[in-house]
Amino acid sequence: MKTQKRMRNSGKNIKITANNITVTYNDEGPENAPVIIFIHGFPFSKEMWNKQIDELKGKFRVIAYDVRGHGNSWSGTDDFSIELFVKDLLSLMDTLEIEKTALCGLSMGGYIALNAIENHPHRFDSLILCDTSCSADSPEAKEKRMKAIEGIWENGIEKFADDSIKNFFAPESFIKKKDVIAGVREIMIGTTEKSVIRTLLALSNRKETCTTLWKIKVPVLILVGEEDKITPPEAAQFMHEEINGSVMSVIENAGHLSNLENPDQFNQQLKRFLKK
Ligand code: MLT
Repeated sequence: MKTQKRMRNSGKNIKITANNITVTYNDEGPENAPVIIFIHGFPFSKEMWNKQIDELKGKFRVIAYDVRGHGNSWSGTDDFSIELFVKDLLSLMDTLEIEKTALCGLSMGGYIALNAIENHPHRFDSLILCDTSCSADSPEAKEKRMKAIEGIWENGIEKFADDSIKNFFAPESFIKKKDVIAGVREIMIGTTEKSVIRTLLALSNRKETCTTLWKIKVPVLILVGEEDKITPPEAAQFMHEEINGSVMSVIENAGHLSNLENPDQFNQQLKRFLKK
């Protein structure tokens, strides 16, 4: 007997149950086109991919979702971890009946993508790693996360956002991309303190994926802002050297949020890669 295919809901801010929580996602582009799923960084939302979605949705089925506890997705009661975020991704793909997809993750989204491909290599046909790293947190980085948690308890999310933003962008962006920075701040302060704290713990406990990069057999594009202070070009270069056949490109006039700071160059690289 033939099983009934699920009716696709396309558009923005669609709600679906995946891994026992409500996940909110955008799903745009032609029905039978190749699929690409975007995963945002911390503590942002799927809105950070709007410029990439607009560029690709003519030829690709483009899905961007809010990671658990971010944007309009629910938090649930489980402790946050990269493993849990990967389960959410796989459950979303299963619910949407997506067997295989291209996966694009920025920073935390990249940590999720790297863990997902390490454990479920047959579900992904290409990977785009943006401003991210395969390393676990160093003891100093863990300490910083704990200080950030204390800071949020004491001073709230706005101070956390303002302090973090200083490291997210290239110097030029503070002059030329004031609107982008204001938009990012808005998304950050819209994330609940509880979710930010739970995600800081998840990030601090994440496992490294560097030692298994050599196993990745699908095409990989690595993008990094030339002035990324959080996951610098050296981290990207390391992954590039470990992943056989990977392509790496440094995005000019960009820091940690290269897709927002220089969308033209970012999209050009992305499109060139996906065309192949
Ligand atoms: C992100 O952009 O997702 C964060 O900077 C990741 C991190 O704090 O490690």
